Amino acid sequence: RPRVLSGIQPTADSFHLGNYLGALRQWVALQEDFEPFYFIADLHAITVEQDPKVLRERTLVSAAQLVAAGVDPARATIFVQSQVPAHTQAGWVLQCLTGFGEARRMTQFKDKSAKGGEGAASVGLFTYPILQAADILLYRPQYVPVGEDQRQHLELTRDLANRFNHRYKKTFRPPEPYILESTAKIYDLQIPQKQMSKSIGGQGCVWVLDDPKVLTKKFRSAVTDSETEIRFDRENKPGVSNLLSIHSALSGEKVEALESAFEGRGYGDLKSEVADVVLETLTPLRERTRELLEDRAELERILREGAGRAGAVAESTLRDVYDRVGFLPAT
Ligand code: TYM
Repeated sequence: RPRVLSGIQPTADSFHLGNYLGALRQWVALQEDFEPFYFIADLHAITVEQDPKVLRERTLVSAAQLVAAGVDPARATIFVQSQVPAHTQAGWVLQCLTGFGEARRMTQFKDKSAKGGEGAASVGLFTYPILQAADILLYRPQYVPVGEDQRQHLELTRDLANRFNHRYKKTFRPPEPYILESTAKIYDLQIPQKQMSKSIGGQGCVWVLDDPKVLTKKFRSAVTDSETEIRFDRENKPGVSNLLSIHSALSGEKVEALESAFEGRGYGDLKSEVADVVLETLTPLRERTRELLEDRAELERILREGAGRAGAVAESTLRDVYDRVGFLPAT
């Protein structure tokens, strides 16, 4: 079976609806036909400052959410990135293959370093996409299920794979991004021109582990527009369009069908119905996460086993990489 691989950062107390719709749902769906590797990107998390205690807790809560969302530890290899040292090792080799200007063109660095200024950003934040390329290439996956914001990183990954293969010998498989158009970018409920994100947070960000009351309130106060018509129009009606996309993604109803169903009805109706549809999916996920966190030893066991399986695959690729680069064999 061909492989799929993806990662998620443990940088908040909960994943958000954008993570769930843009990525996690596809992780679950793809485990049917592919051999899946899914990991918690704690190495990427420390590109910005993290409290060690909080990071450790969030890593475990992340693992619980993955399993609660339907990632099956019996079929999928679930692991923590820092527990597989080959990622960092291959990352260094790929850094030496990446041009400084090429790294500079990564828009996420520009966005993330915009606030404090480039000088305040860590070098790790700068080389972040190259570590991501290593994460991916070590497993030779066919697909990488992600949201739209990761597309540029996937392009860099493909470029680096091809460059390594040409300079040395065919080693890596250039992966394809797996991005579903309808959920590639879920927007903030308060600022519907921006993608929902952990860093914006606030009332516009719906957390998977939100209390139902809090969640419903976030949808009730979602920003719409001064018209009254419920119609999908990303340009002119970003708030309403986002609500329709979320509804459609979770209810399985087509956006056009929803437009007809809501004809003559108000935004209030749409908002409360979307909240209900979201709760239908997230309530069991939240409860299951809480149950799983009652047995932390079991979660840690799943992660250790995952790191063992992932490590075997990653190390075998790394051996080829080191050999082709010209390093003396260590054993
Ligand atoms: P992260 O942790 O920011 O996000 C995890 C996944 O959620 C997707 N996503 C969204 N999708 C739709 N709408 C949104 N508003 C939204 N916000 C986030 C992201 O695209 C992502 O798929 N760099 C990665 C982690 C990573 C990784 C990897 C991913 C490290 N190594 C290797 C794939 C392969 C990141 O920061 O994701």
